[in-house]
Amino acid sequence: MKQNNQPLVIDGGQRTFLPDLTNPDPIPAPAFQRVQEIMQSARLFRYTGADAEESETALLEKEFAEYLGVKYALAVSSCSSAIFVGLLAAGIERGDKVLMPAFTFTAVPSSIVHAGAEPLLVECDDNYVVNIADLEKKIADNPGVKFFLLSHMRGHLADMGKIVEICNANNICLIEDAAHALGNTWKDQPAGTFGQIGCFSFQSTKMINAGEGGVLTTNDEHIYAKAVIMSGAYEKQWTKHFARPTCIDAYQGQYPAYNVRMSEVTAAIARPQIADIDKKGEKFRNNYFRLAQILKRSAHIDVPARVDFETPVPNSIQFNLRGMRGDRIRNFIDVMKQEGIKIAVFGLSEDNARCFWNWRYLDVANEELPITETMLNTACDLRLPVFLENEDIDTMGTLIVRALERVTNSQRTAAA
Ligand SMILES: Cc1ncc(COP(=O)(O)O)c(C=O)c1O
Repeated sequence: MKQNNQPLVIDGGQRTFLPDLTNPDPIPAPAFQRVQEIMQSARLFRYTGADAEESETALLEKEFAEYLGVKYALAVSSCSSAIFVGLLAAGIERGDKVLMPAFTFTAVPSSIVHAGAEPLLVECDDNYVVNIADLEKKIADNPGVKFFLLSHMRGHLADMGKIVEICNANNICLIEDAAHALGNTWKDQPAGTFGQIGCFSFQSTKMINAGEGGVLTTNDEHIYAKAVIMSGAYEKQWTKHFARPTCIDAYQGQYPAYNVRMSEVTAAIARPQIADIDKKGEKFRNNYFRLAQILKRSAHIDVPARVDFETPVPNSIQFNLRGMRGDRIRNFIDVMKQEGIKIAVFGLSEDNARCFWNWRYLDVANEELPITETMLNTACDLRLPVFLENEDIDTMGTLIVRALERVTNSQRTAAA
């Protein structure tokens, strides 16, 4: 593993090294062997084999569906592709509005635009989840709105009971963007299984690291069948999937083929990682709550409580800086950078793709969303890759708390 070459000196004068926090989680050994076998066979296309048993991608779909306890999983090229074909398979029409949280990654509104629809942003609170009152207001203000694309941003789940209740009461199709929430549960139910469709990502900083890749999940045979056709199952290639609902034949030729299939190599990298999800989740929880405990000692930090009944699998931590603004926060970020710890405050780093005002391709970039804006301007974002050990977490916590003390004291001294 690549290490920072700067030794860190923490309290007590002891020297320690911190792993490079930008490194993705490692790939398990069985993936190396399987990738090599597939490369040697040159059968990189999911439909080269005679049937589903001969396709790594089909096997991945089967195991992924089993892991989540859903009927159908469709492997695609990215989570963005899953959202795009998911919206189309759910029946979106050109010009339809799609509710979505204002705090998410630019790929999410982009997928809505790609599907010919219009994003409608909903405020997010300082615990990073969607503001229920604003969701209800936006539904009331937009009669007939039919879709809610809910990003579980950074793996923070909202009160899913309430969300499902609101969607059902208003006849809204709920699509979950669970790119950051594979393995999370709410009341023991997996994220991505509350709505009609779940979308997952295998991009390198996610729970499963395959570089790129995504999965669409659903229990609805029609959504699945249409999505399979649109993902690129031309000429009855869907016969090479394990799941083949009878309705699928009628959809052949009725929908465009967008060719967003997953490659066999990607599937081979991702598949062995399914078995590791729960074990990794435990490690992520240990690291997250250990660090949160240390950070809570600082008067300048607020680590918001997580929503009741959520079991998170956090591979990053978010915390809000109390009573600090612009330059003081920038000063803190600089000090942390010198210590080898990259912390981003969403709203203060230039062009941050998680800030709605940087989505300049949309009119909503100019919208008034004061709750989300305040949160984005004080919320810190820090990766917690799986290879961090307790001593790394303790070092990071100590350095963060110490840097905040230093920054706020120097401000006080300057002001005196
Ligand atoms: C919250 C969120 N949703 C969706 C996506 C899209 O995932 P992908 O890169 O697999 O298209 C991302 C990408 O990082 C993301 O952060």
